[in-house]
Parts: sequence; structure tokens; C-alpha cells
Amino acid sequence: MQGNKRPETMERITNEALAQAFIEEQVAELREQIGDKKVLLALSGGVDSSVTAALLIKAVGKQLVCVHVNHGLLRKGEPEQVIKVFREELGANLIYVDAVDRFLDKLAGVSDPETKRKIIGKEFIDVFAEEAAKLEGIKFLGQGTIYPDILESEQGVKAHHNVGGLPPELDFELVEPVKLLYKDEVRVVGKALGLPDSMVFRQPFPGPGLGVRCVGAITRDRLEALREADAIVREEIGKLPETPWQYFCAIPDIKSTGIKYTDGKGERYMGWAVIIRAVNTVDAVTATVPEIPFATLCTMRDKIVKIPGVNRVLWDISEKPVATIEWE
Ligand code: XMP
Repeated sequence: MQGNKRPETMERITNEALAQAFIEEQVAELREQIGDKKVLLALSGGVDSSVTAALLIKAVGKQLVCVHVNHGLLRKGEPEQVIKVFREELGANLIYVDAVDRFLDKLAGVSDPETKRKIIGKEFIDVFAEEAAKLEGIKFLGQGTIYPDILESEQGVKAHHNVGGLPPELDFELVEPVKLLYKDEVRVVGKALGLPDSMVFRQPFPGPGLGVRCVGAITRDRLEALREADAIVREEIGKLPETPWQYFCAIPDIKSTGIKYTDGKGERYMGWAVIIRAVNTVDAVTATVPEIPFATLCTMRDKIVKIPGVNRVLWDISEKPVATIEWE
């Protein structure tokens, strides 16, 4: 089994042929390691867990049990895409958990960002552990750990645990088939495994998801408005010849005055403001703000103001520092 150090002789996976060779080698190793036992994997739909899942499916098929937890803070279409790609196209053994009410009930009235993060993280582990406890004969836990995670953990920058803090009775052996790969290599392998571009080239998305972009205490109506606006921004900015590193929306819990016309008669009302955020960065430690063509901004504005409850669109041009990338 591979250690945690990338051998200096390991060639960078930059093309389909090298990816296929890596896949073949990994599939053989995974079969050897796993034998006839079962593997459990938390499948978020992010590139790392998706590539890990696709590799494991190729190696051990239905012996892999994927659990996709919908916490209600995913982007528009994400749970549907995970189901379509993994259950329908790859024939995965996929458990879909609709935990939307559970998460949103726990988050109701909570406005402190770090408390929100803790609630989301803890609830995720609880849901995952509950699902795991219902299953029998699981010996391994698949994780989409990648090489930068290992390097950062070693350097003490961050403790990386994709499904950290699992209760001790769920003490599985880890299976981490992409742990020696850099992000760009994971993407090349994902392409070679036939995953769709929208999954393989997905922009980074925080674990707490839209939860830290629905600023303050999350309400369902404001969260839905954010999800719609986010889909518009991803689509429109995604059409640009060069897309920023990360682009998304935030929605603060303030309202401002707008005007609504019915039968030629204007009426004042209070509506939300959607904030468009696009940044470029190498390591997310500092970030700059790329130019967005004014025509694209106007297209997004015209679509976003049609979302119920929204009457204003803002563009955040703050760099990191002084601001952080996310609003919370
Ligand atoms: P900030 O806001 O700190 O974001 O400038 C830097 C990068 O980290 C992402 N981010 C998170 N990712 N859990 C995550 O997995 C989090 O709680 C979290 N907060 C921020 C953010 O999207 C950006 O790419």
C-alpha cells in the first residue's frame, strides 16, 4: 500500500494515457486491499470525493456504499447531479439522505458564523454516523484526501479530516486512492474516468456550503433566493472565456427599499440585496478581484431581480485582505 509521501520519481499525471495507467494501477491495488469487504464513502459531489468514488466503483462496484447527505445548503441541481451520475450512470450503491429539515431546524435563529459552521459540521457527522450504523459488514472508509491535504496536515496548517470526528464504534480502515495526487491530477483522472466536466472542473465550494453565504440567521426563503441567484451567476460568469477561481453570491439579512409596478402604479416595498463575488487566487490566502464585463453584470442583474424577494444587486470588489473571500 502507498505511504503518505509522494515518491520523487512519480510522474505528474497530465494526460489521458498517464491517467489510465494510474487508474489501472489503483484499481488493482484497491481490489487487493479491499478483497470482498465493503467500503463506505461520504459523497459530497466535490471533485475529490467524486473521483475517489468513481475509482472505487471501478475497482469493487457494489461493495462501495456511497452516502450523499443533502443538508439543504448545496447549490442548485447538485444533489440531482450526484444521483444522476453515480446511481444512474455509474450504477453506484448510493444512499441519498434528505436531511434538509434537520439541518435548517438546527440552524434556525443562529447568526454567529462559527456556530453555524460547528452545527453544520456536527450534524453532518451525526447523519453520516447514523447511516453507517444501519449498515453491516463495513470494513473501510473511503476518503477523497489529496496530497495538499497531507502536506498541510504535516505542516500543521490545518487538520484535514474529510469525515473527521466519527464516533469510535465506527472506526474504519481508511482507503484514500488519490492521496498522492495534486488537484490538477485529480481532475485529469476524473476526466479519464468519464465524470462530467461540471463535476471535474467544479469551483471550490466550502463544506458549510450556502450556509456561510446566507449571512446571519438562515431563513428558507432567503436561502432559496440565494440558491437561484448563485445558479444565475455560475451560468453567466461561467460563459466568460476566462473564468475566475471562485464566483458566487452572498445574501445579507438586510432589506432595502424597492418599487414594484402593478398596472402602472408604483408601490414601495422592502427587498433583499444579492451580492455578486468573484475572486482570483492561488492559495486562497490572498485574493484579487477580476474584471467582469459590464454586459455580464447587467445580464446577471436583470435575471437576479426577477427572483422573488430580491430588489437590488451589488458587486463586491473587496480584495483579500482586507476582506475574506466568503462573507462569513
Ligand atoms: P475565506 O473566506 O477564509 O475563504 O477567505 C478562503 C477559501 O476557503 C473556503 N472556505 C471554506 N471551506 N469550510 C470549507 O471547506 C469552510 O468553513 C470554509 N470557509 C471558507 C472559501 O470558499 C475560499 O475558497
